[in-house]
Amino acid sequence: MKYASIKGTGSYLPEKIVTNDELAAMVDTSDEWIRERTGIHQRHRSADGEGTGQMAEAAARHAMDAAGVSPEDIDLIVLGTTTPDRVYPATACQVQARLGIAGCAAFDVQAVCSGFIYALGVAEKFIRTESATRALVIGADVHSRLLDWADRSTCILFGDGAGAVVIEASDEPGIMSSHLHADGRYEPLLYVDGSVADGYDAQSAGPAVTRMQGNEVFKVAVRTLGRIVDETLAANGLKRQAVDWLIPHQANLRIIQATAKKLRLPMDRVVVTVDKHGNTSAASVPLALDTAVRDGRIKRGEILLLEAFGGGFTWGSALVRF
Ligand code: ACO
Repeated sequence: MKYASIKGTGSYLPEKIVTNDELAAMVDTSDEWIRERTGIHQRHRSADGEGTGQMAEAAARHAMDAAGVSPEDIDLIVLGTTTPDRVYPATACQVQARLGIAGCAAFDVQAVCSGFIYALGVAEKFIRTESATRALVIGADVHSRLLDWADRSTCILFGDGAGAVVIEASDEPGIMSSHLHADGRYEPLLYVDGSVADGYDAQSAGPAVTRMQGNEVFKVAVRTLGRIVDETLAANGLKRQAVDWLIPHQANLRIIQATAKKLRLPMDRVVVTVDKHGNTSAASVPLALDTAVRDGRIKRGEILLLEAFGGGFTWGSALVRF
């Protein structure tokens, strides 16, 4: 059995920045409320027509550059997204075509904010079982397109973006373990209106927008992420002191702080991008990872705990020797 190791990281953020003050001009909220309750100062919003596939391609190219590989070297593409450009074909297939390659497996996984962790866990298993040797793993979302701009409890939270890694077969770990979970009973707390069964158009099903009972989601997220920290450390026979960096899903600074507290990690060992990016859904973990790799905080050989929680509910983690 091989291990999978991360060879390169990349990301992409749309040019346009939306500040809290701009949102306060649209709904009854304030910069102060948003900063205090979420830690978000701003978020990026993709341009009209700039979809998940385009952003995913840009992040993937940056990751391949960092890894020193070209598209022809890739034999698997797994893309986490909840905002595919079309219901089908998969956005991973679109990215494959944009990269000018064909033949390798390419598919999307849909686990909302846990999308990248799910994609990484799946791709890792392909590599461990020697079904692939070099994979592009991408998380990309334009969650801004799934928002009710009159709902102040959701429209302030989300941003658009993409992040990617190249993982490769190796004799040494690498990804030490990955852990994926879901509990579909929580659908009423977090879902998008509308349904393919109803025809999926505005007239029959209403607009496809995010509906969330934020405070209920918050409580389950904190509890669940605490449990996944324990599970991940136990699976590797490690104590919490072994973790050099926490790279959490960036939904809310208070959720991130609670997980850091559980690990007793000081906040300067936690990668926080929620202030600048907001919640970019499947892109949030790889965007945070790439940010801290490129600014030199994360170094080769360090142990990283990646974790996420999102709609489904889904949640998961990966322990990585970088
Ligand atoms: N501005 C001002 N007031 C607001 C805003 C706003 N933007 N949004 C809500 N409020 C009000 C509410 O109406 C409520 O007012 P009331 O007391 O008069 O009824 C009050 O603020 C408190 O509302 P809560 O929902 O209890 O606020 P909370 O402190 O829980 O913060 C938030 C809300 C930020 C959504 C938080 O609950 C959260 O981050 N939840 C988790 C989100 C998450 O992790 N989602 C999973 C990933 S997302 C995905 O998978 C798609």
